[in-house]
Amino acid sequence: MPKLIVVTREGDEREVEGEAGLSVMEVIRDNGFEELLALCGGCCSCATCHVHVDPAFTDRLPPMSADENDLLDSSAHRDETSRLSCQLPFSAALDGLKVRIAEDD
Ligand code: FES
Repeated sequence: MPKLIVVTREGDEREVEGEAGLSVMEVIRDNGFEELLALCGGCCSCATCHVHVDPAFTDRLPPMSADENDLLDSSAHRDETSRLSCQLPFSAALDGLKVRIAEDD
């Protein structure tokens, strides 16, 4: 299974395996990272699944929708690496993807 590297708010880094077809948010949640709240369950309406993506993978991510863009604007911690992890399908093409859970808003 493809690997995902997750960095917590405290800076702890852990490599986990993720099933292709799940979202990056689901892979993070399934591996017990409770600080990623993902309150809306992946409906792109809460922004509590905000992550910062390693810039080396930016080109492999799907384009950002207008809804995702608007929601990210509500975060005080948005930067150019910000994405909503529920909007990122995980796959073998993203093997080794590194994401950092964004600061709490
Ligand atoms: S889980 Fe709510 S926007 Fe991603």
